Amino acid sequence: MFFLSRLRLIFLLDATLLIAICALETVNFTGLILHEWLGLLMPFLILAHLLFSWTWIAATTRRLFSSRSGRADTRTRINYFLTLALFACITAQILSGILISQQAIPFLTKKPALALTENLAWGRIHKNSSDFAVALVSFHLAINWNWLAAAVRSRLGWRKAGAR
Ligand code: HEM
Repeated sequence: MFFLSRLRLIFLLDATLLIAICALETVNFTGLILHEWLGLLMPFLILAHLLFSWTWIAATTRRLFSSRSGRADTRTRINYFLTLALFACITAQILSGILISQQAIPFLTKKPALALTENLAWGRIHKNSSDFAVALVSFHLAINWNWLAAAVRSRLGWRKAGAR
């Protein structure tokens, strides 16, 4: 029972994270105000995502960096370093977003926003890390596809053809 509700929670959280990233990548669709507030929610969603994945993160880090544990296979290594790159990319996006913020941060700090034209370097980092994130999120989904498909099947009560 606990397992089922935990799986459901992880599934809902991951679906929310994916929808939030898609929305954040389409600023023209959301508008800048929604974009910035949604962007500020991301650290909480990512922290929750990492906490739910903590067992995998801790076990894989031990396997990769300790000589006593068994060697990690190539797929696990690629998955680990892709995840690390994605984390770095999203951290850069959020930090650069905060530094170029035109709405949310000026509202919270009650200080005027710096014009985007005066903050070109951070603007470029924000745009480039967003482009990288699209590729990295796609790889992240692809490499974890079996887990994702199993979670969707179990959530919808489907079983593989032939499975009893
Ligand atoms: C994971 C989180 C985020 C993602 C994926 C993301 C993604 C994007 C993308 C794709 C653009 C359009 C870039 C372009 O084509 O020039 C953009 C622009 C922008 N973002 Fe974010 N963003 C995130 C977080 C934030 C945060 C937290 C803030 C501020 C609090 C923010 C503020 C801005 C601003 C002000 C622009 C307009 C920049 C311009 O017009 O040159 N973003 N963001």
